[in-house]
Amino acid sequence: MTVQAASPMISHSGQPLKGEVRVPGDKSISHRALMFGALAVGETRISGLLESEDVHHTGDAMRALGASVHRSDDGVWHVRGVGVGALREPENALDFGNAGTGARLVMGMVGSHPITATFIGDASLSKRPMGRVLDPLRQMGTQVLARAGDRLPLTLRGPETAMPLSYRVPVPSAQVKSAVLIAGLNAPGVTTVIEPVPTRDHTERMLSGFGADIVTTQNEAGERVIRLTGQPELTPQDITVPCDPSSAAFPIVAALITPGSEVTVRDVLLNPHRTGLFTTLREMGADLEILNERETGGERLGDIRVRHGVLKGVTVPADRAPSMIDEYPVLAIAAAFAQGETVMLGLEELRVKESDRLSAVAAGLKANGIDHEEGADTLLVRGASTVPGGGTVVTHLDHRIAMSFLVLGLAAQAPVTVDDGAPIATSFPGFTQLFESLGGNIETPGAA
Ligand code: S3P
Repeated sequence: MTVQAASPMISHSGQPLKGEVRVPGDKSISHRALMFGALAVGETRISGLLESEDVHHTGDAMRALGASVHRSDDGVWHVRGVGVGALREPENALDFGNAGTGARLVMGMVGSHPITATFIGDASLSKRPMGRVLDPLRQMGTQVLARAGDRLPLTLRGPETAMPLSYRVPVPSAQVKSAVLIAGLNAPGVTTVIEPVPTRDHTERMLSGFGADIVTTQNEAGERVIRLTGQPELTPQDITVPCDPSSAAFPIVAALITPGSEVTVRDVLLNPHRTGLFTTLREMGADLEILNERETGGERLGDIRVRHGVLKGVTVPADRAPSMIDEYPVLAIAAAFAQGETVMLGLEELRVKESDRLSAVAAGLKANGIDHEEGADTLLVRGASTVPGGGTVVTHLDHRIAMSFLVLGLAAQAPVTVDDGAPIATSFPGFTQLFESLGGNIETPGAA
């Protein structure tokens, strides 16, 4: 089990944020590039891979399952895959650290191969529900040895031949959709996933790029129907990973709330299933411009330029949640500086992220004197022209809670402390340095 020492961090307000930055590669695409590379026959090359703890755990798991994974001096990652159906039984437990995406998608890989593997993770991941992925895998023939409540640690044994499945995902989750599709790669025949609420489609796009026969249509009820023909030979790819919009969210919101700021974040992934925060910020009146929009490697990207200005409260509809599911903590920070109330609806999935994000955000707002109301699946934030700050926020091993409240401290009246910034390394290496380059003041007291 992964255990890290807690490392408190503190942010202070100061000068305006100015400059042009790139954030690290997209986490969702990075995990998938390593996994599909491992399932292809031959060498996949990946540029711009997110070199963070979560993604390193996936790389290690791919090695343990038989792929060769290495980074050359030019920063390119090389994955020599074994082919669908040929994964090797790992000798040791697969450790996913903090990463739900890594754990759940690899469960799909292992679950349809006739191998046994044990999945472990840190204290946060060991609390998260895995039944949402194990239920469809059980229907495909996977044996599951798990403690009550389907939490990690658990052991999977895939069947000799997995049964293709037609599965309607009961929760809006790209991870569940992806786990079923990935399991379907090694099932004979067609695996179908029905998605009542559309979620990020990186799995579908990337599998198609690797040569899988995967087709998305819409049924009469308006649901997405994804059909994958199993047992393809996947062809290795050259992949360039765009910058992560979920990481770009932090400098973007920081600039919007810090007087005098102007920041450009370059090469940001603009897949429409990921841009809900940018839509919401614009509705709030943010001066947010998308420049140089272009299509690369099957994904839309662009540069995002933001300038500080007056924000106003809005209602964020529930059906926008899947396209900004990881961005609510930092939206709550923007909302604290807006005029009036911001109401966020349909947040039930926030309760099962790296932490219960709804209660972690509410507790952080309270600690910093920000007026708010937490509902079962809603959050209301009452903005103010001056935001007190001065609190200490409990991060519960959740990188996005840590980063969001450090952003708060850049514009609040008094410095904001987070009890543990170590989890930031799961998704955003270089977070502090990036803010330093913009003129932001974030410290790790006690660091060398
Ligand atoms: C992800 C899907 C989302 C998101 C997570 C990454 C993915 O999770 O919160 O950070 O890469 O598929 P859910 O599928 O659980 O909503």
